[in-house]
Amino acid sequence: MKSYIVGNWKMNFTVGESSVYLHKLSARVHAYRDIEVVVAPSFISLQPLSLQLDRKKIRLAAQTANARDFGAYTGEVSMAQLRGIVDYCIIGHSERRQLFHETDKCVRSAVAAALRNQIRPILCVGETETERTFGETCDVLRDQVLGGFSEVSTEDLEKVIVAYEPVWAISTTSGAKIAGPDDVAEAVKFIRRIIAVAYGKEISEKVAVLYGGSVSPANAGAYLTVPGVNGLLVGGASLIADKFIDIIETAKRVKS
Ligand code: 13P
Repeated sequence: MKSYIVGNWKMNFTVGESSVYLHKLSARVHAYRDIEVVVAPSFISLQPLSLQLDRKKIRLAAQTANARDFGAYTGEVSMAQLRGIVDYCIIGHSERRQLFHETDKCVRSAVAAALRNQIRPILCVGETETERTFGETCDVLRDQVLGGFSEVSTEDLEKVIVAYEPVWAISTTSGAKIAGPDDVAEAVKFIRRIIAVAYGKEISEKVAVLYGGSVSPANAGAYLTVPGVNGLLVGGASLIADKFIDIIETAKRVKS
């Protein structure tokens, strides 16, 4: 299976800065057969970057999008509007769920809307510190994974990418801790088991599962060698092109 290295820029960079960054990245990465390099800039940068981009090397993701196609929804951007501009969309990121009150229903509809518009969903799941402390991690992951997959047709199941991002390990979370490779291995195994029980073992082995949360050039290799991990969703470290390139190069080394 391919590895995915995805940089989530969150609400950072102007259009000009995004373009300069992409220029630098394009000059340093190659077209890899087995690694998909993806960056997720703000909405306003997507269209100009899509014109600048060499899709053989780098792909674009949106950070969220509305599940409805068109209509009177002031300020929203839909999957239908992003069709042809992005190849991926991050859906249900914990910051969207917590700060913007995105519900499981929004997430579920957005996954279906992405697929309907030829966009691959990157479905984020992960427990908070409190949920972990109360032993609720498995319940949270089961609800988020099954919820996210619930409107996906059988033939589209393997297009969904799951990103396990424990909220307590995200660098901007106050008092963030680092998730150990064993924590990640256990959660990723559990996620695949949920998918296997619901949709069969074959599908569970075809769905890519990424890890995200305080990924850096120093720990990328350790996460990428966790069994069942097919890539990384990188926040803070993806804002510095050299660090992001370092992580891509680590992925290349792990692959070979
Ligand atoms: P950090 O890599 O900054 O912890 O962010 C993770 C994340 O939220 C990526 O989506």
